[in-house]
Amino acid sequence: MSDAEYTFLVFRGDANGGEEREYKVPAVPGMVVLDAIHWIQAHIAGDLAVRWNCKAAKCGSCSAEINGIPKLMCKTRLDDFQGEDVHVAPMHTFPIIKDLVTDVSWNYTVNKRIAPFTPREDEPSPFIMYQKDVDRLYEPRKCIECFLCQDVCHVLRNHGEMSEYFGPRFMVRYQYLAMHPKDSLDRREAIKDKGGVGLCNITKCCQEVCPEHIHITDNAIIPLKERVADEFFDPVRWFIRRRGDARNAKPKEDLEGSGVEPQPQRPRPLESPGGKDIAAS
Ligand code: SF4
Ligand code: SF4
Ligand code: FES
Repeated sequence: MSDAEYTFLVFRGDANGGEEREYKVPAVPGMVVLDAIHWIQAHIAGDLAVRWNCKAAKCGSCSAEINGIPKLMCKTRLDDFQGEDVHVAPMHTFPIIKDLVTDVSWNYTVNKRIAPFTPREDEPSPFIMYQKDVDRLYEPRKCIECFLCQDVCHVLRNHGEMSEYFGPRFMVRYQYLAMHPKDSLDRREAIKDKGGVGLCNITKCCQEVCPEHIHITDNAIIPLKERVADEFFDPVRWFIRRRGDARNAKPKEDLEGSGVEPQPQRPRPLESPGGKDIAAS
């Protein structure tokens, strides 16, 4: 590579297969990978397919694998690749539509399987929302649904467990719902069974690639695992359930779709991010 240009190796193909093709791109100070892809589109390969929207790392559209690492193309500066070729490939975990564009619709199917935010019907009015509650909901709300965490998660990527595990993005959604003081559903059974949280072995790869720096494993998955373990694998609770005394406390199933009845009881919301005070009471 000369000082004046970068060598890009961009995947070109579709569901039937494809290959990397080489493109030389003139270097411009401050350039990001998405700029280079747009330059290639404009000057060499007008039919190169790429999904993008905001170019500000906020829409989550331009996810790809850059030199093997899941990243947002619009947030990846070319200065990081001085002296290197730049390989750009579509996300591996999802089916390819064309070139860099993948079909991420599976994620929206999963989303629909999570019962929506459900306040109690007899919610006191006005409801007092404390600043502490607002603050701790901030982290999971930052998710831009780029699905880079889903892409890197080996449970989905390498083991094809897409029917068994919802993936890290949706553990973050469960974290949000579990921490929200107005959500009335007890979701522990759903997190264990439908969500498949037990399949996560806390490698933290998802957390490392998240462009919003959400502590996916520390603040979502580990607390959810602890709650599931407390509820279903604690021998004292098991004994109480076996006696039939815990009927009222046992959570109902997290029902599919909308129209879910509010539950009379739910566990205390998860505590604030940081993973320090998350032990369920
Ligand atoms: S920590 Fe869990 S969810 Fe995250 S990448 Fe590893 S296995 Fe997947
Ligand atoms: S949790 Fe992070 S990596 Fe996963 S979809 Fe949301 S923003 Fe993207
Ligand atoms: S174009 Fe929106 S996140 Fe990259």
